[in-house]
Amino acid sequence: MKCYNSFMSMINEQIKSLLEESNMIASFANVSACINMNYDNLNWAGFYFVKNGELVVGPFQGKPACTHIPFDKGVCGRCYREKSVQKVDDVLAVADHIACDAASRSELCVPILVNNEMFGMIDLDSPRKNRFTEKEVKEMLEAADSISQAILRHHWSY
Ligand code: SME
Repeated sequence: MKCYNSFMSMINEQIKSLLEESNMIASFANVSACINMNYDNLNWAGFYFVKNGELVVGPFQGKPACTHIPFDKGVCGRCYREKSVQKVDDVLAVADHIACDAASRSELCVPILVNNEMFGMIDLDSPRKNRFTEKEVKEMLEAADSISQAILRHHWSY
């Protein structure tokens, strides 16, 4: 019997197939919708891209969000600086958390690295504290890896 971990999760099967679309905005828009559809208790799911020395919002599902985020601010800024996953169980405990939606209580921010350079990040917000677990971390790391491969394959730039 094969180990569960040897199978790609359902959400990542869907994300991989959506990334076959060669138009970058179309692809990212559908991936954000796919994450929002598969995960319960989200109030925001989408992307920030690295552009001209800051982070700029990309396709997303949810309320209108901060358009520009400096590298030295917020959970997304820390994700950029540390090139690492930020799982925030209680956003109220993070002094420089940027509240795009006052309902947000926890957040998961996963870097999208291309050739070890930050291209952007997947950002998820939840109105529930402690919403994100190792399952979502693993799945979103896998999604970020698929996105990184799609960026190289389609020669996307931003
Ligand atoms: N909370 C983020 C800002 C982006 S919104 O959550 C969509 C942050 O602290 O960087």
